[in-house]
Amino acid sequence: MALRFEVLGRFNRARAARLTLPHFVSQTPLFMPVGTQGTIKGLTTNQLEEIGCQIILGNTYHLALRPTSELIDELGGLHKFMNWPRAMLTDSGGFQMVSLLHLADITEKGVTFQSPVDGKPMLLTPEESIQIQNRIGADIIMALDDVVKTTITGPRIEEAMYRTLRWIDRCIAAHKKPNEQNLFGIVQGGLDPVLRDICVRGLVERNLPGYAIGGLAGGEDKDSFWRVVAQCTALLPEDKPRYVMGVGYPLDIVVCSALGADLYDCVYPTRTARFGTALVPEGVLKLKHKAMAEDTRPIDPTCSCMVCKNYTRAYIHCLVTKDAMGSQLLSYHNLHYMLQLSRDLHSSIIEERFPDFVRGFLQKMVNAEC
Ligand code: GUN
Ligand code: ZN
Repeated sequence: MALRFEVLGRFNRARAARLTLPHFVSQTPLFMPVGTQGTIKGLTTNQLEEIGCQIILGNTYHLALRPTSELIDELGGLHKFMNWPRAMLTDSGGFQMVSLLHLADITEKGVTFQSPVDGKPMLLTPEESIQIQNRIGADIIMALDDVVKTTITGPRIEEAMYRTLRWIDRCIAAHKKPNEQNLFGIVQGGLDPVLRDICVRGLVERNLPGYAIGGLAGGEDKDSFWRVVAQCTALLPEDKPRYVMGVGYPLDIVVCSALGADLYDCVYPTRTARFGTALVPEGVLKLKHKAMAEDTRPIDPTCSCMVCKNYTRAYIHCLVTKDAMGSQLLSYHNLHYMLQLSRDLHSSIIEERFPDFVRGFLQKMVNAEC
C-alpha cells in the first residue's frame, strides 16, 4: 500500500486525519480542486501551492484523449508534465463519459462511446482505465464504475451496483503499480440502502487502500444524499480514507465531514467563479451585480487571500466576463475559500471545537438568507 491514514482527532463521527501519499502529506477533511485537462483553469501550480492545495484531480478521459496517456508517460508522468509536486488523484473516466457524452453505452465489457476527436466508436474497459491511470501516475487512482443517476429508479440501479463490484476485481487484477499508486473502490447503489450495504461490504472485503462514495450530487434531495453518506461512512473501515465524489458545496462538505467523510472534489468553486460568483461565509456574492460597480470593499473582508488583500469588488465587477483575469481572480479566491474551510474543519476537530465551528458556519449562512 502506498498510503498511510492516521486519525489525529475525532468529534463523534467527524475525523481529522493525516493522509500520507507518495507525493505529499495531506490533512483531512480536504477539498480537492478539479483540473480536467492537466490544469486547474486559470491558476498556476505555484498559486495552487500558495493557497494550500494538497491534492488535485485529473480526469482519465480528458487526458487520454489529449495529450494521451502514452505521451504523459513518455514525458515522465503527469506530476512532471504539469509541474505539480504535490499529490494527485485521477478519476477513472466512466463518469465523465456518461455525464458528458449522452451517446455513451455501458456493457459488461466497459463503456462504449463515440470519440469526440474523430467520431469513431471507442471502448473504455476497467483494464484500460487502470492502464491509462498507471501511465498518468497519480497517487490515487479510481476504479471504473457503472454510474447511474440517483434520480432514476428500477433494476438499472441494481445492475450498475453489481457491475461495479464485478469490475473492481478486473481493476485490481489490472493494477500494475500497487506500491506507488492507491486504487480506491467506489460505492454505488443509488438511494437504496440494501444495495449500498451490499456494495460497501463487497468493496471492504477487497481490502482496498481507500473508498469513495459515488453516484451522489446528481439532483437527489439533500436528505437522501446525506442519508446515503451517513450509511456508507458507518459501514466503511475507520482506518481508511472516505471520499465523497463530486461534492463541493461548502455546506455539503461541512455536513459530510460531520458524518465521517474525509475527501471531496467538485468543479463548482471554479465553474461558479467563471460565472462571476464568489464563495463567502454568508453564502455567495455575485460580482456581476450592478451593486458591485462602486463597491470598494474586498470580496470578503475576513478573507486572507491575495485577491481580497489587493483588489476591490468594483475592480472584479469591471473585469468579470470581459477579461480572463476576472475569472482567474475569482477562482483563486474560491479555491482559497474551500481550502480554508478544509483547514478550519481539520483544526476545529483537533482542537475539540468542531460543534462551535459548525454552529458559527451555519449561523453566518442562515443569517444572510433571512
Ligand atoms: N464523480 C462524481 N460522482 C462520481 C461517481 O459516482 N463515479 C465516478 N467515477 N466519478 C464521479
Ligand atoms: Zn479572498
